[in-house]
Amino acid sequence: MATVAYPKSIPFFNYKQAFASREGEYVEIFRDVLRRGAFIQQQDLADFERHLAEYLGVRHAIGVGNATDGLVFAWRAAGLRPGDEVIFPSHTMVASPASVVHAGGVPVAVDCGSDHLIDPDTIEAAITPRTRAIMPVQLNGRTANMDRIQEICDRHGLFVIEDSAQALGSRFKGRFAGTFGRAGVYSFYPAKILGCFGDGGAIVTNDDTMAQRMHLLRDHGRNQEGEVVEWGFNSRLDNLQAAILDRQFANYGDIIEHRRSLAARYEDRLGDLPQLQLPPAPDSDPDHFDVYQNYEIQADDRDGLRNHLKAKGIGTLIQWGGKAVHQFSGLKLRASLPKTESLFQRCLMLPMNTVVSLDDSDYISECIRQYYAA
Ligand SMILES: Cc1ncc(COP(=O)(O)O)c(C=O)c1O
Repeated sequence: MATVAYPKSIPFFNYKQAFASREGEYVEIFRDVLRRGAFIQQQDLADFERHLAEYLGVRHAIGVGNATDGLVFAWRAAGLRPGDEVIFPSHTMVASPASVVHAGGVPVAVDCGSDHLIDPDTIEAAITPRTRAIMPVQLNGRTANMDRIQEICDRHGLFVIEDSAQALGSRFKGRFAGTFGRAGVYSFYPAKILGCFGDGGAIVTNDDTMAQRMHLLRDHGRNQEGEVVEWGFNSRLDNLQAAILDRQFANYGDIIEHRRSLAARYEDRLGDLPQLQLPPAPDSDPDHFDVYQNYEIQADDRDGLRNHLKAKGIGTLIQWGGKAVHQFSGLKLRASLPKTESLFQRCLMLPMNTVVSLDDSDYISECIRQYYAA
C-alpha cells in the first residue's frame, strides 16, 4: 500500500487536469471547427450521432442540448398525455421527474434497492389506473434488472423511457442501458464519463416515428425543408461539443476500462471493511457490465469519514446535494421511501474518473482504513 504521506490533494473531479491531459488534441479540434465556422447541426454532429448509434446498435441517435431536454422530448414523442403517471426512483437527479412534469405527466417516486437503483419490488404497489410508464434511472453506470421491469410493463400495459444519463456503455445481459425502452437518454455534462465542455445530451431510439418527432422538437419544430410543422424548442447539441465528444468516444473502451480497474482496486483494498457497503465489483454478476460513472458507497459515520478525507485533501460528494427527489418538500411528491431515506444518511461518492490513478485510489483507501482503525 502507498504510504500515508501523499504529496497532492485529490479533488472529487479535476476538470483542469482532465483538460491538461489532452490539451493539444482539444485545442486542435477547437481550431479546426472554428476555422470551418461549423457551429450548428454540422458534419461533426452527424458523425458523432452515427458513431453513437453504431456503438449502441440502435437506429437513431439525436444530439440535444442536455439530457433533461432529451427526456422531455422522449416523453412527448412517446405520447405521454396530461395526467399520465410515470414511476421513477427517487434516488435520481431532479431532472428525471422534472422531464415528466414538463411533458404534462405526473411523476410517482418509488424506493431503491441495495444496488441504489429502482427496486422492482416496489413498482407494482405504485401502479394506479393512471400509470402509463416506468422510468428506470440507470444510476452510477449500472443498468437495472430490465427483465423484471419489462415483465411488469408487459403485465400492466406500460412503456419504458430510460434515464441513462449516467450509464453510457453499461449493459444488462449484454444489452446497453438506454436501448431497452422506447427511448433512452444520455448526458454529456462535463463530469459524465463521456463529458463535453458545457451541456450536452443525446436521445436514442429504434422507433422511426419517435425519432422524426424528436428531430423536430430539438430544432424549433422545423423539418428538413425548413418548414415549421409544430411548436418546438431550441435544444441542439452544439457542433463544437459534438466534435470534442466524438474524439473522446474514439477511445471510450479505454476510459471505461480505467474506471472498472479503479472499482476493482477499491474493492480489493476496502472490501473487507464491515463499516462500508461498496458497489458491486466489476464482473461480480455476469448479468451486469458496470461502467462506474460514480463509485457510490455506503459508510457508517459517513459525515465523520467525509471530514476525515477532506482533511487529507480528498474530495468526495453526496449526490443531489444530499437529498433524494421526494425529500425536496417544495416539489410536494409526498412519498415515504424508507430505503432511499436511510441510503441518504449513508451514501458517499469516492473519486472515480480518468485522472484518478490506481495509486490515488490506494491512498484514498488507506485514509479510509485509517479512519475506521482509529
Ligand atoms: C440521472 C440523471 N438524470 C438526468 C440528468 C440531467 O442531465 P443534463 O444535465 O444533461 O440535463 C443527470 C445529470 O446529472 C443525471 O445524473
